Amino acid sequence: MAVVHPSIALLSMIVFSLSPPASGVPNRLVAFLIDGLRWDYPFSDPELSEFQAMAREGARARYVTPDFPVKSYPNYYTIMTGLHTESHGMTGNYMHDVMRNTSFLLGYNPESYEPYWWEGAEPIWITATKQERKVNMYYWPTCEVPIFNTLPNKCEPYAGYPTYNNITDSIDEIVQLFSERAVDMAFVYFEDVDRLGHAHGVESQQRLEATRDVSRFLEYLRENLGRTGQSDDVNVVVMSDHGMATVEYGPSGGYVSLSSFIDHNDLDNPVFYETSYVSMWPKEERLDKVYADLQRVPHSVAYKKEDIPEGWHYKNGKYVPPLLLVMTFPYLIGKAVW
Ligand SMILES: *[C@@H]1O[C@H](CO)[C@@H](O)[C@H](O)[C@H]1NC(C)=O
Ligand SMILES: *[C@@H]1O[C@H](CO)[C@@H](O)[C@H](O)[C@H]1NC(C)=O
Ligand SMILES: [Zn+2]
Repeated sequence: MAVVHPSIALLSMIVFSLSPPASGVPNRLVAFLIDGLRWDYPFSDPELSEFQAMAREGARARYVTPDFPVKSYPNYYTIMTGLHTESHGMTGNYMHDVMRNTSFLLGYNPESYEPYWWEGAEPIWITATKQERKVNMYYWPTCEVPIFNTLPNKCEPYAGYPTYNNITDSIDEIVQLFSERAVDMAFVYFEDVDRLGHAHGVESQQRLEATRDVSRFLEYLRENLGRTGQSDDVNVVVMSDHGMATVEYGPSGGYVSLSSFIDHNDLDNPVFYETSYVSMWPKEERLDKVYADLQRVPHSVAYKKEDIPEGWHYKNGKYVPPLLLVMTFPYLIGKAVW
């Protein structure tokens, strides 16, 4: 089975901006986080005319190097805090706090809404709110968490995949509130490019249509800003957390089963399998044994926490595990034996 996963090599953040500051008027900002929008998607399809117009009339990042691990939550928070993962602390979609014996698990796990996970650094929406800017967030994962006892002006919770119509409804509201000067910043999250890329593949029609939806709602935004006379004092930024690449998955493909190489009784729960890497908390006294066992796992590199490369800006994170196994692209890892 061909699946896609975030790729170390192809990841990107894409930034476009419109509208130089109009003198004397505080600019408004609307920023979109398009999950899994690979750096080259906007320029590989002539139907994505709005992306191309934004790049032409505004600016475009030529490349961006994502943070390790190349996963959604760490990179959302890198974008929003301006810090590497080890400094903001969101070092995974799955994290374990040994002192509290609690886990952060991607999705609707209530523990993930506890502020302590998020308080390694301050994201821009909290900083802006503290500075008395009005910030509205739409479908932004966990914008309802009170970080440093602060909530944005509005958080429309992520409750299932936001649809194209959800986004255009949000755009209507944002344009209206901007014109009333009732809101200063808006952040909007859209998941379909990532979701349909995972489900159907990078080259699928579904992924392509999801990307065209982004171009269409950006065009809708531009038209509405123009209609309300706001083209010159609203900045528009489009960001992505990572890209995607196709890999072969399954017993004949690039899948490595960790259970064939280590004894799970040597590990404390939890073990987090994140396809491109595994986080492990070995039982006391078993660390060196597990580390030795991991040397036999093909297409991988095992790291004790202290040996993780400095340049990843990851190793000093509060929730970094004592043992980390990182796969070599395009190989993936899981627990199961096929
Ligand atoms: C941590 O919590 C789990 C249940 O979530 C429990 O099974 C385990 O024994 C706890 N570990 C410690 C060290 O208290
Ligand atoms: C998104 O749209 C769907 C229908 O398209 C609707 O049921 C849902 O309530 C909307 N979500 C939000 C948060 O407005
Ligand atoms: Zn993502």
